[in-house]
Amino acid sequence: IRSVVLGCGSYLPERVVTNAELAARIDTSDEWIVQRTGIRERHIADDDEFTSHLAIKAARAALAHARLDPQAIDLIVLATSTPDNTFPATAVAVQHGLGINHGAAFDLQAVCSGFVFALATADNFLRTGAYKRALVIGAETFSRILDWNDRGTCVLFGDGAGAIVLEAQTQPGKTSDSGVLTTHLRSDGRHKAKLFVDGGPSSTRTVGHLRMEGKEVFKHAVGMITDVIVDAFNATGITAEDINWFIPHQANKRIIDASAHKLHIAPQKVVLTVDKHGNTSAASIPLALSVAVKDGRVKKGDLLLLEAMGGGFTWGSALVRW
Ligand code: ACO
Repeated sequence: IRSVVLGCGSYLPERVVTNAELAARIDTSDEWIVQRTGIRERHIADDDEFTSHLAIKAARAALAHARLDPQAIDLIVLATSTPDNTFPATAVAVQHGLGINHGAAFDLQAVCSGFVFALATADNFLRTGAYKRALVIGAETFSRILDWNDRGTCVLFGDGAGAIVLEAQTQPGKTSDSGVLTTHLRSDGRHKAKLFVDGGPSSTRTVGHLRMEGKEVFKHAVGMITDVIVDAFNATGITAEDINWFIPHQANKRIIDASAHKLHIAPQKVVLTVDKHGNTSAASIPLALSVAVKDGRVKKGDLLLLEAMGGGFTWGSALVRW
């Protein structure tokens, strides 16, 4: 059994905040932000727009793309670090919003690597035959946990959601067949204080704000990303040359460029959306994927390489035949 992608979709809040707007509020500049990160603008959710609302819109778009009724879904795995509530899981709000009350829905938290972790989780459930069709969603409202007075972090993030629909299909499972070919996940808690939120129900009874040692994250990112991609290559015999599209987590253009360069992936194969979306954490990969599918770059049979690295640290890769 192989998990085949039936469709994808995304949603971005309407409000766009440019670097110039941020520069009017805090001591920063468009030039500084673009040079260090490649980010030009980001979408920010309205006060009454929650992570579940973004996720439901992305899920509906993915289901429409897959030409599937919500009732066909029996598993929802939602990756987020900005849930509507501490509990219940935002995934059950999405399940209810879609009018589904069978199967299972749960959240998964691996920060920026969340979508790759959720994809791997859903893939494993589908391949065992436990479920038939899964919605894998990355949805975030990071604007809610930013310290808007900390120019070192608040310029980097944005809000949004993306989703894909997976279906368990019986097939020979060659690397030329469509579906999720392999996933590789890693984490190392020694780095947990380098990127974290300084609050939570058990410790401070508050939500807290995102704190990051940017240079430390940067220092580890490229090595971790390329390591876990080499794991994927070794497991499948696939090489960088075979890849049609590199769809990385969109944190920072410099990290993406350096990773692609180290792996010998041609720049024209890199899907880049960080300029328009900022870092949307778990939502960034399905958002980028949706852009590249919608504009016709990703075609049936294409080989996609996904990767992410984030808080924890967590990191992971996936090879998907479209
Ligand atoms: N505008 C203007 N100046 C700024 C800003 C800003 N927004 N932010 C920081 N500065 C200043 C600092 O105060 C510092 O000034 P000083 O020299 O007077 O003290 C100077 O710029 C340099 O600051 P650094 O933090 O050393 O800047 P650096 O070159 O490391 O760039 C950045 C910071 C962009 C955060 C970089 O470290 C980075 O990209 N790190 C990766 C982090 C990342 O992408 N995290 C995303 C989450 S994790 C993930 O998704 C993988």
